[in-house]
Amino acid sequence: MKFFIDTANLDEIRELATTGLLDGVTTNPTLIAKAGRNMIDAIKEICEVVPGDVSAEVTATEYQSMVREGQRLAKIAKNVVIKVPLTMEGLKACKTFRHEGIKVNVTLCFSAAQALLAAKAGATYISPFVGRLDDIGHDGMALIADIVAMYRNFPQIATEVLVASVRNPGHVVQAAKMGAHVATLPPAVLKQMFQHPLTDKGLKAFLDDWAKTGQSILEAPKAARREQA
Ligand code: G3P
Repeated sequence: MKFFIDTANLDEIRELATTGLLDGVTTNPTLIAKAGRNMIDAIKEICEVVPGDVSAEVTATEYQSMVREGQRLAKIAKNVVIKVPLTMEGLKACKTFRHEGIKVNVTLCFSAAQALLAAKAGATYISPFVGRLDDIGHDGMALIADIVAMYRNFPQIATEVLVASVRNPGHVVQAAKMGAHVATLPPAVLKQMFQHPLTDKGLKAFLDDWAKTGQSILEAPKAARREQA
């Protein structure tokens, strides 16, 4: 399963890229606004830090303008993926980008029917928003199960299921069990995935016991040092 990070904050991206666990980045107009950056500059810098797919979203809502914006964004770097909303105009633009060899992430997907249309339009990624469905009392993960099952019936569908609007590590684990290809994680959720109280407790006990031995892995024991001298 691929892990993308859902932020436009360069500091967070740089920090988490050092783990070697990042396969890509997703951004959206809200995240760009939150980062307080010029979009073109931010995407350029993100693409330099993370070699994997970096999603940059168009802000136009009409086909011709979406295509012009997407072509501009795609020129920033080879790893830019154009994000379009799941609207009729967005899917028309998706088809055009795919004919031009540009990868597309179709975003704001909230139903299996929409996901089917995105696959038909040749989307590289479909982004169902699980957290926002949960927020309104629906079952976000049930949508992922539906899309994965539906796509599996048609081996010719190359569209990857990119689980978005992730709120907690549980979403990621469920998505992996269902066979979703990618999850895009807010930095806090990725950090949460490393944590377990028993890991902290166990590590503390190991270190306390180790300290009692007076040993150091990198320094030879005193007796051995005397013999060497
Ligand atoms: O980038 C799209 C998606 O992940 C947004 O998530 O938390 O704003 O619902 P959220």
